Amino acid sequence: MQRIFSTTVLDGGTIDLTSGWNVKQPEANATDLEPSMTRASRAVASPRVVSIADLRPLARRRLPKAVFDYLDGGADGEVTLRENCRVYEDVTFRPRHAVALPQCDLRTRVLGFDLALPFLLAPVGYSRLMHPGGEVAAARAAGKAGTAYILSTLSGHRLEDVKAGSSGPVFYQLYLMGGRAASEAVIERAKAAGFSALVVTIDTAVSGMRERDFRNGMKELISGNIFAKIPFLPQVLECPSWLWAFLLDGGIRPLANVVVPGQGPMPLVDITAALASAAVTWADLRWIRELWRGPIVVKGVLTGDDARRAVDEGAAAISVSNHGGRQLDSVPASLRALPEVVAAVKGQTEILLDGGIRRGTDIAKAICLGARAVLCGRAYAYGLAAAGRAGVDRVLALLRQDIERTLRLLGAATLEEVDSTLVRVPADWRR
Ligand SMILES: Cc1cc2nc3c(=O)[nH]c(=O)nc-3n(C[C@H](O)[C@H](O)[C@H](O)COP(=O)(O)O)c2cc1C
Repeated sequence: MQRIFSTTVLDGGTIDLTSGWNVKQPEANATDLEPSMTRASRAVASPRVVSIADLRPLARRRLPKAVFDYLDGGADGEVTLRENCRVYEDVTFRPRHAVALPQCDLRTRVLGFDLALPFLLAPVGYSRLMHPGGEVAAARAAGKAGTAYILSTLSGHRLEDVKAGSSGPVFYQLYLMGGRAASEAVIERAKAAGFSALVVTIDTAVSGMRERDFRNGMKELISGNIFAKIPFLPQVLECPSWLWAFLLDGGIRPLANVVVPGQGPMPLVDITAALASAAVTWADLRWIRELWRGPIVVKGVLTGDDARRAVDEGAAAISVSNHGGRQLDSVPASLRALPEVVAAVKGQTEILLDGGIRRGTDIAKAICLGARAVLCGRAYAYGLAAAGRAGVDRVLALLRQDIERTLRLLGAATLEEVDSTLVRVPADWRR
């Protein structure tokens, strides 16, 4: 009976068709970590790919609809998601022309780390569903480009492998999933593995209502039994190259870093419920600080009040963020919330920003308005989904060229010169 319902894949692993598509095999190697000249990597290297917007359709073509929409979508009516990108149009530049700039220096310091670029890679959950290289591939690309990578709690790769894969600083994003004992265990592992900072996300009291995920059967596809999956399977079968890579990588994997003591890694079932009991409070943050004792970034700040509270609770940095429009819809775009936060913090902690970053001009505008650096989410996830490591390399190269060109056109030789004198903002933003 067992033989009828299982099939052997290339390297000797076995797909257990009775349980959905978990694949029983040893810890799979993250494939395609080094860019090789596959069709996908040739597509992202094409001279026609000149912006992040050109990578999005490549990601869409390779991924099943459910996975693409998980990456691309936002909460409710996606008002904040759209506004996060649109808002950059409200800010215009006031460049300094006729300035000779033999060199342009893109280096900055975040939490005491020298970065070659003013952007980091944001935590993006389930990256391994987008491409088998997943979190390891993204961290490796970030390290090679001289910047930092932030690993999501919702990772398919072990945090030790992600850290070992990168030559740059790696931060760990913490949800209190699996309870305090599991969180204590992962904090100890992150410390031992050499993670440089903890990023504590505070905007996830429950998971946002991502309507596209419900329509596409995302929950059924990743956690249901085979019968629950059947109605949603056609979209997956339409993407054979993604499906093949996914099965070879071991299929649906548990959350490698959420290990409840005595129970092993948490399976991907009922993530919404797990997140609902993982909300972080200021009291939790104090407890986390005691355990971690290194720098903490509070991610998900949108008001001056929360920013002040984060400073008082000892945050080394905050990220002005609305989770890429994936949590509470109709909150302001991150860039719009930045001036209030900058005014409240009064230089007492570093300020990062994430949300809607797709171009070098977006990065420059955020820095002009007071961010030390920005985090990119979907921008690099599109590249990862399109072509794994090669796709992330391409995104990082595009954004680097973009920000360097922007600085030259602004007449700024260094990031210190990128300040509020270089932008014009709507009058009510300054209040
Ligand atoms: C597919 C996806 C998964 C995400 N997963 C996480 C996560 O696990 N933890 C977290 O703090 N933020 C997560 N985020 C939010 C990002 O860290 C970041 O705040 C957001 O992507 C920034 O907006 P952008 O995508 O427009 O750049 C996720 C974002 C996306 C697109």
